[in-house]
Amino acid sequence: MSVFYRERRLPPYVFAEVNRMKLEKRHAGVDVIDFGMGNPDMPPAPHIIEKLKEVAADPRAHRYSSSMGIPALRKAVGRYYERRFNVALDAEKEICVTLGSKEGLASFATAVTAPGDTILVPDPSYPIHMFGFIIAGAAVRPVTFGDPEHFFAEVSAACRRSVPAPTVLVLNFPSNPTTQTVDLDFYREAVKLAKQYNLIIISDLAYSEIYFDGNPPPSILEVPEAREVAIEFTSMSKTYSMPGWRMGFAAGSERLIGALKLVKSYLDYGAFTPIQVAAIAALDGPQDGIEENRRVYRERRDCLVESFGRAGFDVPSPPATMFAWAPIPEKYRELGSLEFSKRLLDETGVAVSPGLGFGERGDGFVRLALVENPQRIRQAARAMTGFF
Ligand SMILES: Cc1ncc(COP(=O)(O)O)c(C=O)c1O
Repeated sequence: MSVFYRERRLPPYVFAEVNRMKLEKRHAGVDVIDFGMGNPDMPPAPHIIEKLKEVAADPRAHRYSSSMGIPALRKAVGRYYERRFNVALDAEKEICVTLGSKEGLASFATAVTAPGDTILVPDPSYPIHMFGFIIAGAAVRPVTFGDPEHFFAEVSAACRRSVPAPTVLVLNFPSNPTTQTVDLDFYREAVKLAKQYNLIIISDLAYSEIYFDGNPPPSILEVPEAREVAIEFTSMSKTYSMPGWRMGFAAGSERLIGALKLVKSYLDYGAFTPIQVAAIAALDGPQDGIEENRRVYRERRDCLVESFGRAGFDVPSPPATMFAWAPIPEKYRELGSLEFSKRLLDETGVAVSPGLGFGERGDGFVRLALVENPQRIRQAARAMTGFF
């Protein structure tokens, strides 16, 4: 039984049941085709690994590093913002390195939350957006993201009616799990609302480089006033296929970056220096690995949409991210996403993530991660043919 305050505030992990079943199946010799976890399977570019090896061989590279990140890496992040978004940042005051963006999001929640604060998070969303704040002692008010107009109306209503008034609004576009994208006008409106209602905006831009329709996702920091109210998180995990390295970045308002840096200075000593130097090599070096990642995810996306569709499972084609977000087919809809995912795994050997794990309003959906190759995707489609 959970005894501690924070334990009691965290519900049972929805994905645990499917994960347990996956393990049982594997032990029983079933070849599970796994679209569950968004864990990139491609390796990083060779020059990044070479740089890691080279710096790790230096006897001086093994001491504690700096929790906010070494200055050269913060400057490299500044150059990325400059060339990709045409945004000039002060690497000293407006950028902080994090141990993956997940750690950054959680530490930031710790930094800005007082017990009992209310924060606004889209439902469904990536779990840390909500649970980072729940762990920090806040109450979460979910908002629905269908289209921007309704979203902003709901956010405004929440700001007017909630007592205490919400302090934070979390945005994540391209979205995990829904794959929705937004344009710069959306961020302009968000910043306007934030200033009106005294909200902090967190923008999670983990999928900044995984897009398929030719329109690179914008950064909220392209809106000049965002520098007063927003903090944005980016990550090397998906962009450079480096999820295990735990390397992410926060950028934006000096006040918000300052709060994050302060908490981090108590919590950690920063990433291993060779990883930080290799991250500079990734940001400043050849970028063709990103193009190749996009090509691979696009190929898998097209293969999945086409072959699953033929098997009777209609999956909308995602414009961005490494996921597809699919409504549960009519025949199984009343089961809900957890039961449906279990039935699908049990009868076909195909594993997906139940939408419920991303929030109550995700329950009519499942999320499919594009981490299996086209041959395995087609194999999954064949296994599902009778099921639908
Ligand atoms: C939207 C979103 N934010 C953050 C993360 C965490 O990324 P990182 O590896 O940088 O902690 C993920 C990982 O799946 C994600 O989907």
